[in-house]
Amino acid sequence: MTLSERVKNIQASQTLAITSQVLKMKADGKKIISFGAGEPDFNTPNNIQEEAIKAIKDGFTHYTSASGIPELKKAVIEKLSRDQGIHYNTNQIIISNGAKHCLYNALMALCNPGDEVLLPTPCWVSYTEQIKLAQAKPVFIRTSQENQFQLSAKQLENSITDKTRVLLINTPNNPTGAVYNKEELQKIADILLEKDIYCISDEIYEKLVYENEKHFSIASFGSNIKEKVLLINGVSKSYAMTGWRIGYAAGPEEIISGMSKFQGHCTSNANSIAQKASVEALAGDQESIKQMHDEFDKRRKFIVKELNKINGFSCDMPKGAFYAFPNISKVLKTGILYNGEEIKDSLQLANYILSEAEVAVVPGSAFEAEGYLRLSYATSIEEIEEGMSRLKKLFN
Ligand SMILES: Cc1ncc(COP(=O)(O)O)c(C=O)c1O
Repeated sequence: MTLSERVKNIQASQTLAITSQVLKMKADGKKIISFGAGEPDFNTPNNIQEEAIKAIKDGFTHYTSASGIPELKKAVIEKLSRDQGIHYNTNQIIISNGAKHCLYNALMALCNPGDEVLLPTPCWVSYTEQIKLAQAKPVFIRTSQENQFQLSAKQLENSITDKTRVLLINTPNNPTGAVYNKEELQKIADILLEKDIYCISDEIYEKLVYENEKHFSIASFGSNIKEKVLLINGVSKSYAMTGWRIGYAAGPEEIISGMSKFQGHCTSNANSIAQKASVEALAGDQESIKQMHDEFDKRRKFIVKELNKINGFSCDMPKGAFYAFPNISKVLKTGILYNGEEIKDSLQLANYILSEAEVAVVPGSAFEAEGYLRLSYATSIEEIEEGMSRLKKLFN
């Protein structure tokens, strides 16, 4: 059987590949410490679970409107007004199967073949492949560690061509933990308006910012830019609800309506029970978020301190999300041998670490960032302690 060019052209997710390799090694009895997973290790809070159970018992188990139930859209509207000060109406909201699905819908609704989508790197693994699936062209803009992995307005300006259709930004950022500051975002918004370019703003880690950092949505900088922005968020990361698969998008009515039409034929509505539970997540008691946030914060400080004690690793303190992103370019220059070959890139190094220390990390190359590793600290302090001690043993 011959696969379509479309599918042949996409790469399997490196993060999911590592997860499945770790599961296999665990099944073989290996005691792997995994920093690979991009999901909270906490259980979904009780109040949210209860609403799902109630929905099942009440028989809320049928198709819903393809673009989502009105109560959840209302909860999204209130959340965006409360947290970001942005006001939307019901026709400007869609509920989908996770933020990932919203992103795909958005790209399919916005891009024509050959359109260019600007993608600041390092970036999340699925963006590039989704852009390709939409027959558009990913155009990478490399941000630097010196600029805290934040896209500058100047870089944006220099990357725009007459084919540029969309800028895709992600703040707080996976994998770097960068949180865009208000001033630069405002400048970016001005350029997008001047050049008539859309922005997809992935804000899935919004609740996970630390110390005095504040999350800003580019859609909050006035009614003009709001008309050019598709704001994407969901309940996966903030409410420990990755398996429930609920994400949402807010944006101009015409685009949301196009996304709804597309979704209506591809998947219909997101899970009815999970939608009910998500109403409670967004509108109910927010105490559990604070507890998870504070725990992540403790782990963040601990893992960064420990990573900086490993020979050749250098790690800045991430401002958001739940990933540490150490620079390992010095390690790559030390001539470590693995299977008789000198380790020269982050993928080889990640394989070496998994095989020799039984610690799973994700190579920076998965995020278009050679010379780095990503370690998720969405795992217990004890696991982090053990993982760091194994890495020290291997490198020090
Ligand atoms: C930057 C980013 N956006 C979107 C997603 C997808 O989130 P969801 O579980 O809501 O599909 C992830 C998940 O890893 C992510 O890291």
